[in-house]
Amino acid sequence: MIPNVNVEARDPALIAPARDLATRLGLPLFAADQSPPAEPVLSLDAQGWALGVRGARENPVRVDFVGGTQGHRFRQGVGPREPLARAVGAREGVRPTVLDATAGLGRDAFLLALIGCPVRALERSPIVYTLLADGLARAAREARLASAVARIGLECACARAVLESLLPADRPDVIYLDPMFPEREKSALVKKEMRLFRAVVGEDDDADSLLSLALTRARKRVVVKRPVHAPFLAGLPPHHAQTGPSIRFDVYLTGE
Ligand SMILES: C[S@@+](CC[C@H](N)C(=O)[O-])C[C@H]1O[C@@H](n2cnc3c(N)ncnc32)[C@H](O)[C@@H]1O
Repeated sequence: MIPNVNVEARDPALIAPARDLATRLGLPLFAADQSPPAEPVLSLDAQGWALGVRGARENPVRVDFVGGTQGHRFRQGVGPREPLARAVGAREGVRPTVLDATAGLGRDAFLLALIGCPVRALERSPIVYTLLADGLARAAREARLASAVARIGLECACARAVLESLLPADRPDVIYLDPMFPEREKSALVKKEMRLFRAVVGEDDDADSLLSLALTRARKRVVVKRPVHAPFLAGLPPHHAQTGPSIRFDVYLTGE
C-alpha cells in the first residue's frame, strides 16, 4: 500500500512526467498554483525528484551521488578496505555479485558498484524507488560514475517475492540486508530521512524472516547492517562482524 504522499511539479514544463508518475502510483497531483496539504510531498524540479514535507525547515531528501555529502565521499574514492566491501568479501581480484534486498536511497549499493561489484538492487517502496532511480539516472550522465551505475540493476520489487522465486542460476554470491532500525543514528540528517522514511515506508517488520530466506539463497554469505550496539537480526549470531564506530556489518557464511 502506498501512503499519503502528494506529487507536485511547480514548473509547468514538468507537469507531464509528474502526472505520469502520479497516475501510475494512484497519488494526487498538485500543480504550480495549488498547495498540497502538510503531508509528504514528492516534487519534481529541474534537479529531479525530491521527498519533503511542505513548510518543513529541512531540505527535501533527494538521491545525489554527484554532489552533496555522498558525491563528496565518492569523489574522495572508495576501495575494498571499506568495512562494507570487506563484509561482502571483496578483496584483490574478487568482486562478488551482490543482491541488495533493501536498496533504500542506494548509498550502500552505489558504494559496492563503485568498487566493482555487480549489484541487483531491490526496493519495494515505489516512492523510494522513484528517488533512487532518479539519482542513478543523474549519476549515469557523469563520465566518472557511469560505469558504477551500469553495474546496478534496480528493480521496484519485494525482496521476499524475488528470493522465493529465484532460479538457481540467478543466486548471488552475497545477499545484503539493511532493514530499518529505530533511532539508528543521532545526526540531524539521518533523523530527517528516518522520519520521512517511516512516513512513506513504515517499519520493516518482516526483516527477521527475510534473513532466514536470504540464508537459503546466498551462495557465499548474507551481510546485515546494524547499529553497532543493536541486537542481532532474528536473534541469530553471525559468524563474524565488521565493526565501525556506529555501524556493524554482521556476516553469515552460507557455504560454497
Ligand atoms: C534502511 S533503508 C536501506 C538504506 C540503504 N542501505 C542505503 O544505503 O541507502 C531500508 C529500505 O529497505 C526497503 N525494504 C525493506 N524490506 C524490503 C523488502 N522485503 N523488499 C524490498 N525492499 C525492502 C525499505 O522500503 C527501505 O527503503
